[in-house]
Amino acid sequence: MSFQELKSKTREILTNSVSSKDEKLLAICQLLNTNIVHYNWVGFYFANHQTQTLHLGAYVGAETDHTVIPFGKGICGQVAVSNANFVVPDVSAQDNYIACSITVKSEIVVPIFAEGINIGQIDIDSHTINAFTIEDEQFIEYVCKEISHLF
Ligand code: SME
Repeated sequence: MSFQELKSKTREILTNSVSSKDEKLLAICQLLNTNIVHYNWVGFYFANHQTQTLHLGAYVGAETDHTVIPFGKGICGQVAVSNANFVVPDVSAQDNYIACSITVKSEIVVPIFAEGINIGQIDIDSHTINAFTIEDEQFIEYVCKEISHLF
């Protein structure tokens, strides 16, 4: 499925009036994981600004022990602080990285903003090294922007 088609499916999921916010987020994970071969784990972490921690939300892929991540820790925690996309072509080259599985070779994390606040992020892992292109990054940014309307 092309990015254009995936964008349109994303909008369809998000505007479905009968499903809950969590059902929509899970449906987005399923859409991306099923249709993009190099997206092997797709999930959301949401920020608690009081405790400075990220909390795992909807996800598709291998179960992870990392359901709570302190701000600053790992790729996800760094994005909670930097408010910027983080594309990791080779996770083995990162010092501040939390390994969920040895099969993961590259990763992308893109923040979600609601009213200018970094409320969470999409985290995508790939079993392929250097899996994420600028087109992936722009597509995921689009998905994050659409998702921000839920909040
Ligand atoms: N690798 C992430 C942790 C989350 S798992 O990929 C699901 C990180 O370094 O923050």
